[in-house]
Amino acid sequence: MNSDADALRTVKDADRKHVFHSWSAQELIDPLAVAGAEGSYFWDYEGNRYLDFSSALVYTNIGYQHPKVAAAIAEQAGKLCTVAPGFAVDVRSEAARLIAERTPGDLDKIFFTNAGAEAVENAVRMARLHTGRPKVMSAYRSYHGATTTAINLTGDARRFGNDTATAGVVHFWGPFPYRSPFYAGSEAEECERALRHLEDTVVFEGPQSIAAIILETVGGAPGVLVPPAGYLAGVREICDRHGIVFILDEVMVGFGRTGKWFAAENWDVTPDLLCFAKGVTSGYVPLGGVAISSAIAETFARRPYPGGLTYSGHVLACAAAVATIGVMAEEGVVEQSARTGAELLGPGLRALAERHPSVGEVRGLGTFWALELVRDAGTREPLVPYNASGAENAPMAAFGAALKKGGLWPLLAGNRIHVAPPCNISAEDVAKGLEILDGALAVTDAHMA
Ligand SMILES: Cc1ncc(COP(=O)(O)O)c(C=O)c1O
Repeated sequence: MNSDADALRTVKDADRKHVFHSWSAQELIDPLAVAGAEGSYFWDYEGNRYLDFSSALVYTNIGYQHPKVAAAIAEQAGKLCTVAPGFAVDVRSEAARLIAERTPGDLDKIFFTNAGAEAVENAVRMARLHTGRPKVMSAYRSYHGATTTAINLTGDARRFGNDTATAGVVHFWGPFPYRSPFYAGSEAEECERALRHLEDTVVFEGPQSIAAIILETVGGAPGVLVPPAGYLAGVREICDRHGIVFILDEVMVGFGRTGKWFAAENWDVTPDLLCFAKGVTSGYVPLGGVAISSAIAETFARRPYPGGLTYSGHVLACAAAVATIGVMAEEGVVEQSARTGAELLGPGLRALAERHPSVGEVRGLGTFWALELVRDAGTREPLVPYNASGAENAPMAAFGAALKKGGLWPLLAGNRIHVAPPCNISAEDVAKGLEILDGALAVTDAHMA
């Protein structure tokens, strides 16, 4: 037996015995053992290479193993591996400065967390303390993380097993022109009706009880939901009129994903609090945070903020952030993401939709796209029902298997494939990915009604 086969068996055996995996029935899964990764690819122990069209969980914005970021982490480890969060330290100060300089408006102070859900938890805590109000409003089509407040804010089915019904959350419908909850006939009508619905919900909940409205700038996990023009500005206006804190969750879409440093720039809006994580370090070391407006920072100028984390602003993570932001700036990764969307992914995916009747809609921007797969193009019936599993999900499972067989690692969600490769993916790899997709869409076409 060769050494790769031995290594594979060792990794798999210990994984099966001792690793408890996220979101899974432990005995029903068979995780792929990954042996290594570089750029837009990772590979297993059996010689299979995968073009990663999911950027891990939409976070390897500069691809795997960028040598400059790996070196910066090693250098920081050699110098100072850790220091308590209460101290001022060069690399943390620098990471905060680089992030604050890129966030919109006066979001100039950074509270560091370990990841995205903690950023959401702390943003909500800040909003409640700042306003003295208890409730938070979020969209049904949303994902905000898996800690208690964050998963209760989440609209999608992952909330169902965690719903406390006491988290002070009120859900509403955001705009989604393709499957309009408002029976709208155009984007403009969808926007107008979605804003009226939000305003009505605020009024009937009692604005004096609402601390914050939280939105993903572009809904990520719920399906790359790009807001219609005017929607985010309209939400900003509703928040201002009622004294409600506006939180944008940019955990998935920050740091180049939509072709801007932060997605809010696409619509020229500034929230009061902005949550980030994932792309800030390309996931090389976990880091998240909240960028805070001057008005909210002022609330805690002379009153202690009742929240903190042992590893807030961990120096290895901050070194990774400084290096990642440096690489993105030097190599023009944000601009590349915008160009890749406009010139390669957008046109390429639309061309696939022309050829494959099971593609109901293509939407996205930058390196962040979704194909809505349908059983019937006329009725737009999804290829599989909402929250499908087992036999009901067979068409999507077959599609996923075909993509992997072709050498592409997909991000499948419900009846959609999300296309989210590294923001610096090469033109050749985009073309290769589109070709693999083209072949595999024959599977979904064959499952149409
Ligand atoms: C928009 C959004 N918010 C929050 C989170 C939670 O982040 P984490 O898993 O790092 O806690 C995610 C994760 O995918 C996300 O997409």
